[in-house]
Amino acid sequence: MTRKIILGIETSCDDTSGCLLEINKDNRANVLKLQSFNQDVVLKKWGGVVPEIAARNHMEKISPLIESLFEDGVEGNKSFSPKDLHAIGVTTHPGLLGPLLTGLSFAKNLSLLFKTPIVPVNHLYAHLQAIHLTQEISYPYLGLVISGGHSIFFLVESPYEFEVLGTTIDDAAGEAFDKGGKLIGLGYPAGKIIDQMAKEGDPKKYPFPIGLKSSADAMMSFSGLKTSLRHFQENNPELIENPKELSHVCAGYQEAIAGALKLKLKYALKKTNLKNIQIVVGGGVACNSRIREVLSEAYPNKVFFVDPKYCTDNAAMIAYQASQTLEKNKIPYPESLWIDAKGRFLDKNQLQKHE
Ligand code: KG4
Ligand code: ZN
Repeated sequence: MTRKIILGIETSCDDTSGCLLEINKDNRANVLKLQSFNQDVVLKKWGGVVPEIAARNHMEKISPLIESLFEDGVEGNKSFSPKDLHAIGVTTHPGLLGPLLTGLSFAKNLSLLFKTPIVPVNHLYAHLQAIHLTQEISYPYLGLVISGGHSIFFLVESPYEFEVLGTTIDDAAGEAFDKGGKLIGLGYPAGKIIDQMAKEGDPKKYPFPIGLKSSADAMMSFSGLKTSLRHFQENNPELIENPKELSHVCAGYQEAIAGALKLKLKYALKKTNLKNIQIVVGGGVACNSRIREVLSEAYPNKVFFVDPKYCTDNAAMIAYQASQTLEKNKIPYPESLWIDAKGRFLDKNQLQKHE
């Protein structure tokens, strides 16, 4: 196998990210350079992601960010040129359409200038495949993506084969953290803050409900949890204003999310019919310390978490998934110029199929 250099581009939500990834002769991945710009500070004042504003920020950032990958040397003093690229991997779905189109258009420009093929990459698959950047995991594996936009179980049979085993019917786990946190005044995004505050709290003091607890399948629901937090806040405003009590509330709320994932993982595992299958957890919420603890205790030596630096949106995971699907999925120039982006992963009919 010859050495390959892949450029990854990620702009599906609020992170502008570019990566130069090397796949060496032994098919090992090596992140040469990863640059990301996170819009949290910009979006804070809007209390969440505003798609048009996120797209405009991507437009401002993407050019200098990708250029910087090629400007400064990597590997001693050697710089790469876009001419050295074997392919450009870019997130084409799912995500916010405006932001996705910004990254895709940039990729098309490079493809036009340097006649480089493009590999369209599914953002959710990439979140799981990021595991291979730091750990040895073999196929098939059971994947759980928990992010700001998705909560979904997959049976992953190869870099090309992802079968949905279960998904959320409403909010994603990350939304539960972010919307819940916003409700109790913790700012945006709240996942990390709740994680920190919960460390000082007792998860049993204020228990919160687990969505779809009594349905024996891998479907999840997190919107009821948020509603129960609203009722709790309306009935106990003084507790939310007391920092000690607030940490108990955060711990209880987080525990319900971790508990739901643990319960639903059991059903997803059952669905695979594979007793000793390894479990991979990725996506921004996979950074959560309590979720890591709960799932690791439930499945010791069986559950593997993506390295936190590759959990939240990043272009290294996009470049990696592109490198593994290059053979079948790469689209040469000039067909590369007609690639489309798509916002949704599962449409309504597909979702019902999994309910
Ligand atoms: O994967 P990601 O960067 O973006 C999407 O693809 O959606 O995930 C972002 C999500 C946000 O909801 C954020 O609050 C959450 O990941 N998050 C966390 C933690 N760190 C980030 N949630 C819980 N605990 C954390 N430590
Ligand atoms: Zn993501």
